[in-house]
Amino acid sequence: MGWLEGTTALVTGAGSGLGHAIVNRYVAEGARVGVLEIDRSKADALTNRFGDAVRVTVGDARRYDDNLLAVEDTVAAFGGLDVWVGNAGLWDYGTSVDALPAAAISDAFDEIFSLNVKGYLLGVKAALPALRDSRGAVILTASNAAFWPGGGGPLYTASKHAVVGLVKQLAYELAPDVRVNGVAPGGMPSDLRGPRALGLADTSWSSLPVDDLMKEFSPLGRAIAPADYTGHYVLLAARHESATVTGSIHNCDGGIGVRGRPTTA
Ligand SMILES: NC(=O)c1ccc[n+]([C@@H]2O[C@H](COP(=O)([O-])OP(=O)(O)OC[C@H]3O[C@@H](n4cnc5c(N)ncnc54)[C@H](O)[C@@H]3O)[C@@H](O)[C@H]2O)c1
Repeated sequence: MGWLEGTTALVTGAGSGLGHAIVNRYVAEGARVGVLEIDRSKADALTNRFGDAVRVTVGDARRYDDNLLAVEDTVAAFGGLDVWVGNAGLWDYGTSVDALPAAAISDAFDEIFSLNVKGYLLGVKAALPALRDSRGAVILTASNAAFWPGGGGPLYTASKHAVVGLVKQLAYELAPDVRVNGVAPGGMPSDLRGPRALGLADTSWSSLPVDDLMKEFSPLGRAIAPADYTGHYVLLAARHESATVTGSIHNCDGGIGVRGRPTTA
């Protein structure tokens, strides 16, 4: 029997990368899963792959109405909502303050924060009545950049630090009804995009040698796949296994905070 039998979850940005791996794992653990995904072809691929176990709503996580529609679709399909996972995000491709064109900063900031931060808050707001009914849980995808410099430029790093603030404040406000936690993964191959204002909307993270970069960057010295992170999302979603956990962030980034490895003789 899976850890999430009888559980209903909703994941934003699950058409590729980490979100897709979370859906795959949640279904394998017995959950039924709603998805809010902006890309119609990725949405169709999810439906084709998972059939009745997954209900996909095509929409924009930056919009309250689309978040609400995804909650309504999920509740209508599966009869309730136990876990809301905020995951859709944009990266800034490590664009430093020196490299940021002054004229693009305002738009790039708005693009990144409107998804990485505002999208999470809007989604929680939309899901809250259903989560209160179920005494459910929120899980927000953070990043190594939520704790350490160098995993992005100032726009991304600030946005992911803001996710830590959201986890703590929402955990405080929503206790004892709803547990709120985060997961802070490190690098993994995915289709992660950047802001249009920086000319990065059509650049995919997987166009870079991500596995090689992670082997070098991570103290654990290994490539990490999206599926490697999904156990944290299962644990935090499982009400009996993490009943005492709220306001925490599972730091599972491959040890980036350790800052390297000693050189071997
Ligand atoms: N890839 C990494 O190395 C890495 C590292 C640390 C944290 N993260 C975080 O993981 C999360 C998932 O990113 P990923 O790497 O899997 O990227 P990804 O681009 O493969 O997946 C994100 C999904 O969100 C969808 N999406 C984009 N904008 C959307 C919107 N406005 N509304 C709804 N859906 C939208 C995309 O179509 C895609 O399917 C992000 O929060 C990211 O910051 C990624």
